[in-house]
Amino acid sequence: MAPYIGTATSRVDGRAKVTGAAKYAGDFNTGGLAYGAVVASTIPRGRIARIDARDALRVDGVLDVITHDNRPRMADRSAAYKDDVAPEQGSPLRPLYDDKIMFNGQPIALVVAEEWEIARFAASLVRVDYAPEAFVTDLQARRDAAFVVEKPEKPRGNAAKAYAAAAVRHEAEYSVPSEYHNPMELFASTVTWDGDGKLTVYDKTQGVQNVQHYLCSVFDMKPHDVRVISPYVGGAFGSGLRPQYQVVLAVLAALALQRSVRLVLTRQQMYGLGYRPATIERLAIGARQNGTLDAISHEAIAITSQYEDFSRNDTGWSGQLYRSANARYAHRLARLDLPTPADMRAPGAGTGVYALECAMDELAVALRLDPMELRLRCYSDRDQHEDVPYTSKKLRECYSQGAAAFGWDKRSPAPRSMRDGGELVGWGMASGIWEALQVEISTRIVLTANGHAEVVSAVSDIGTGTYTIMAQVAADMLGVPVDNVTVRLGDSTLPQSPVEGGSWTAASIAHAIAITADAVRKELLRLAKSMPGSPLAAAKPGDTALVDGQIVDQTSAGRAVSVADAMRHGAVDRIERQGTARFKDLSSHARNTHSAIFAEVKIDEELGVIRVTRLVNAVAAGRILNTKTARSQIMGGVVWGLGMALHEEALVDHGFGRIMNANIAEYHVPVNADVYDIEVIFVDEPDDLVNPLGIKGVGEIGLVGTAAAIANAVYHATGKRVRDLPITLDKLRR
Ligand code: MOS
Repeated sequence: MAPYIGTATSRVDGRAKVTGAAKYAGDFNTGGLAYGAVVASTIPRGRIARIDARDALRVDGVLDVITHDNRPRMADRSAAYKDDVAPEQGSPLRPLYDDKIMFNGQPIALVVAEEWEIARFAASLVRVDYAPEAFVTDLQARRDAAFVVEKPEKPRGNAAKAYAAAAVRHEAEYSVPSEYHNPMELFASTVTWDGDGKLTVYDKTQGVQNVQHYLCSVFDMKPHDVRVISPYVGGAFGSGLRPQYQVVLAVLAALALQRSVRLVLTRQQMYGLGYRPATIERLAIGARQNGTLDAISHEAIAITSQYEDFSRNDTGWSGQLYRSANARYAHRLARLDLPTPADMRAPGAGTGVYALECAMDELAVALRLDPMELRLRCYSDRDQHEDVPYTSKKLRECYSQGAAAFGWDKRSPAPRSMRDGGELVGWGMASGIWEALQVEISTRIVLTANGHAEVVSAVSDIGTGTYTIMAQVAADMLGVPVDNVTVRLGDSTLPQSPVEGGSWTAASIAHAIAITADAVRKELLRLAKSMPGSPLAAAKPGDTALVDGQIVDQTSAGRAVSVADAMRHGAVDRIERQGTARFKDLSSHARNTHSAIFAEVKIDEELGVIRVTRLVNAVAAGRILNTKTARSQIMGGVVWGLGMALHEEALVDHGFGRIMNANIAEYHVPVNADVYDIEVIFVDEPDDLVNPLGIKGVGEIGLVGTAAAIANAVYHATGKRVRDLPITLDKLRR
């Protein structure tokens, strides 16, 4: 039996997903289910003067209309609504709490009815009178009032002075609009009323225990009265990190009616949730003629809401990518009458590294240097923020292997110098960086005498492949075929797990499984040693492994006892162990993943239509657990980056403070016709420091840098630099 770690194992949940057997939050059924429909505010700021629900209540089949006036009791302290991912500063949204309106699309009433269609129709009959107040939803209008909430990475030297004295300088502003998640699965909760105030909550979430703790604190319930279950998630990537308001409303209705309730948001209502905040990025880079850097200043101004201060690390990435004695970072927030932003694949890096990597490309042009050569000349072997080395950093290999696969050496440097028939051809590249985080997480393994194992944890699989890598690691560590491993996750009653996010899950849960499987192995060895004439009598625990259903002494071929015999002898039919992965604070080293991405665009010179014909992404992310699911993660991130470069943009009518394209017809994302050839390369990156298995995680790194590589390719093709995303054809023509 070959090892599974490092192979292209197909998704263990793939069959369930493609046959429809996999159930999502809105799919769970129970008798007597009532259905909710949300009424959302149509003004961005003010007070609700009056809600008239009489017409709605007259509709046959309507059970209730819940508003701030008549809702059941909820916690009145805003702290009770702070989930694990809530921003430190501010007071989270409390749906239906009072008459205050803080953004357009805020939930202000919930209609509950016998049928979903009835609820939705009745919701259209709810009349709301507002006392509106003046509002602002435009980042540009508030940029000068932006304020600092969080200290960014610490500065080095004197960046302003060094910049002023630099031989070659580049300074510019780049901007990214607000982008929305648009996962396939709508946010949904099905709450079953189990009697005696006990609830089972099927929720779309990246963290069942986060939701459980949150619901307990909002509704003052006991942990054993609320079980949160989320076996499958149809895309989340940050949008499901925080409990969304529909879970609060569904529970509120279930408690009010003492009945099971389902609430599924509409696609339009999904635009009333968190989003990647619109950000203005200002870069100033000073270099010597030889392409080494003297100064980097990076300032970001991003959107936040009226009620919470959301910020992420946009600006610090250059301290890890490029050597510069002088550097300065600033992150400011502009308060607008919009919902609080949220994490969205590679939050901070997605926007910050886009700007950094476009600025580096512009600097390369100013220096008349190949853009990849510039990056090699200021390559940083140490993390300059903490002045420490990396556990591993094979970014040089990403550059060389990516460039070789792409054919970068055939690039002709001058803009507009490459053509293919009527199309201009452009080649651009960028670097990517993300963190290799790890979190404390627990798992439980049950190995039965028939050679089956069950591996469980409260962790989520947001579509990234967690089920599969858990099964692979357990199979290897327990010496059983992957088909003999059953994984259960996404249930708050299972061993402790934080939210799945930040690309930290694979490394963390794999380590927890390895530790726990180790405890199972030690117990099996103890049983095997006690067998009369045991061939393992003298075996040391550290020398044994579980291989093909046997406990094997690896120092002496042939010394082995079958797992089944050991268990039979010990008169046990199952071995159960629970373990927790804890990670030492590695302040001696920086932990990051890196990438180099190369893009080819072909642009119709007359129409300005851009096709991204080739993308090569070379990624260094430690040991790759599953080359198939990891490749899918990188491809997904790359497509997302393509959308960021060319398509995605929430268009807000600042006169109404409302998104005009709150639907997936007019909010553009890449479709199959936009995606041509994507090649993913995993660079060999052994790492015995980051964790025992050498795993770093690949969730977000695929997105980082992609938009910049495409933007740089567009410049190379056309000679026109568009710094405000998305690069639409009108911007190329103007
Ligand atoms: Mo992460 S922002 O949950 O993909």
